[in-house]
Amino acid sequence: MRMRRLRRSEALRALVRETAIEPGDLIYPLFICPGEGVRRGVGSMPGVFNISVDEAVREAEEAARLGVGGLLLFGLPETKDEQGTGAWEENGIVQQALRALKQSDAGKKLALIADVCLCEYTSHGHCGIVIESQGGFEVDNDPTLERLARTAVSQAQAGADVVAPSDMMDGRIAAIRRALDEAGFAMTPILSYAAKFASAFYGPFREAADSAPQFGDRRSYQMDGANLREAMREIDLDIEEGADMILMKPAMPYLDVVRAARERVGVPIGAYQVSGEYSMLQAAFEKGWLDPTRAMFESLVSMRRAGADFIVTYFAKEVAKLLR
Ligand code: PBG
Repeated sequence: MRMRRLRRSEALRALVRETAIEPGDLIYPLFICPGEGVRRGVGSMPGVFNISVDEAVREAEEAARLGVGGLLLFGLPETKDEQGTGAWEENGIVQQALRALKQSDAGKKLALIADVCLCEYTSHGHCGIVIESQGGFEVDNDPTLERLARTAVSQAQAGADVVAPSDMMDGRIAAIRRALDEAGFAMTPILSYAAKFASAFYGPFREAADSAPQFGDRRSYQMDGANLREAMREIDLDIEEGADMILMKPAMPYLDVVRAARERVGVPIGAYQVSGEYSMLQAAFEKGWLDPTRAMFESLVSMRRAGADFIVTYFAKEVAKLLR
């Protein structure tokens, strides 16, 4: 047997290729900030910007033209407080963006996914309500659920096609599902970040979203990177509670988790190529150490091959352009 026979030409290689990437599999994250005509670069993420609502509509037009599957919206509110009120305000920054996008032709073509979390809206930067506990602090699970549920409902009201909780509180999917149903949004799907690991690779995102914790870290609610079995339990629970789709993150350092999830459950699975994965590649591109096109595709193919149906990536537009 000569395995090389089928590698002799690009035509043959294309014929036997097992895994493909299509623009429609890609979700493009946006960081929405107040103002008009704002387009502020994020230092640690070349090519990523904080943008105002009008610019977001422009981004949506380009993404839709390129056939990108959807947008994932994060917000940088005007002000922050202890509770993270900005997350669920009727006129919150993401809610404004959702309304504007929903009214645009491009926005109607894309899946508009809203990140549900409090960390971008709380003054302390944690993903929930912080209380003092035994001489330290704790992120208080159950009072946070109610706020997350309110956030998801306000996003659905503003036009979100999908809500995506990334907070990692226990019981949040059930709480959000119940609240959506009661508010008349029984048809709004939940994409849960079911297996989200406490990761160094979120560093650049925290600059982009201005959401770094002001004290402590997220290890009391995000998962320990060493635990695969625990990830499966998180996934089972989220699906039991009503998750329609699940997201794994980070992606490249956790491809085994994507594969295990794929073999375990039938729901659609996404992988999130997070900020640090993107910045790491961009840094190497800038130095001329890696070939951008090949490295981008190889990283994304690895996620699809591991079993992800769709990928959240800051490369979405660039890759979609190359696929045309
Ligand atoms: C909010 C949230 C984070 C990311 C997505 N949603 C940051 C965090 O958990 O600290 C990270 C995404 C990325 O790094 O690209 N909780």
